[in-house]
Amino acid sequence: MSLRRMQVTDYRCLRSADLELDRRFTLISGPNASGKTSLLEAIYVLGRGRSFRTRQLNHLIRTGAERFVVFGEVELAERIVPLGVEGSNGGVRARAGGAPVGSLAELAVALPAQIIDPEIHRLIEEGPSQRRRFLDWGVFHVEHSFVKSWQAYQQVLRQRNAALRLRQPRAVVSAWDGELLRLAAMIDAARSRYVLDLESAARSIADRLLRMELALTYRSGWSREMSFADALERSWPHDYEVGSTSVGPQRAELTIRLDGLAVKDRISRGQQKLLAASLLIAQIKLFPSNGDVRPTLLLDDPSAELDDDRLARLIEEVSRETVQLIVTSLDPELMAFGVPGRRYRIADGIVTPSDI
Ligand SMILES: Nc1ncnc2c1ncn2[C@@H]1O[C@H](COP(=O)(O)OP(=O)(O)O)[C@@H](O)[C@H]1O
Ligand SMILES: [Mg+2]
Repeated sequence: MSLRRMQVTDYRCLRSADLELDRRFTLISGPNASGKTSLLEAIYVLGRGRSFRTRQLNHLIRTGAERFVVFGEVELAERIVPLGVEGSNGGVRARAGGAPVGSLAELAVALPAQIIDPEIHRLIEEGPSQRRRFLDWGVFHVEHSFVKSWQAYQQVLRQRNAALRLRQPRAVVSAWDGELLRLAAMIDAARSRYVLDLESAARSIADRLLRMELALTYRSGWSREMSFADALERSWPHDYEVGSTSVGPQRAELTIRLDGLAVKDRISRGQQKLLAASLLIAQIKLFPSNGDVRPTLLLDDPSAELDDDRLARLIEEVSRETVQLIVTSLDPELMAFGVPGRRYRIADGIVTPSDI
């Protein structure tokens, strides 16, 4: 059901921490630069195998240490699943249920972690890859088989691109196309279905949080006027020239409109944050409710970003869902989310339980 325990060793400024987490709501408070975001980031890494702040693994390892280790126990209906992620010069190694994972998706199955942090507007402001990743996380949790199609697609694409780079004859490059088309169709269909559901969930949240009308469009990564097969055909001269496949699901985009206008550069930073929060909360609403896994929502210092009225509206959206909430705050008495089941103080990277 939720993450009940975590241990962190040599992760950023956290030398060693051991926390029991509440099924519903845990509050972690501490001054600036005490390690609050680092702690949430460690939980995120446990669920995803990567950070939301950096791609550089060595930034996550405490200065002077050789590796970080994050360990967690996820409580399901009838058993406890141990998860572990270790990062070192050699890369990331992850274990789930006592065995090395074949794919990082195994972590996500046990610990679906989502974060709303002060950088959340990047989902709106930055390039399409952020939104594709966001989209695919949601699709994956609705259809676990999605990750298999996606990984297989990427493998075929790599082979095709290698043939293009080596200037192989067209027949050699096109030998990959049958499989490429088959996998692309599956990816495209799963994403399209998901965006329809996401739009209707996000629309009502955006209406309440932003008082604006939200519209989402999924663009498949090739021209809407033609099939993927035709698009591949059309892009052949260009792709041969540059040595890479320029159309396909790897170029998909989720476009967002508010009150009929494309959002990029048109709305304020504050609105971007609320919009991104609406999308993330919609994604949590779409999380399948039939299994015994529930998402863990990490809220990093929400009161720093939102005024009281907006915080109240966000909270209303969040608390409607059965999520596990882990919230950081400067304020140890933060009451906006109700009474925490567990409370910790953090100072200079040292985490201590604080009595309620
Ligand atoms: N790899 C690292 N090793 C040691 N300290 C680090 C590392 N990365 C970041 N820090 C330090 O961790 C501290 C806490 O950062 P952060 O978790 O962002 O604090 P908070 O969210 O409480 O403001 C910062 O002072 C930062 O310089
Ligand atoms: Mg922080």
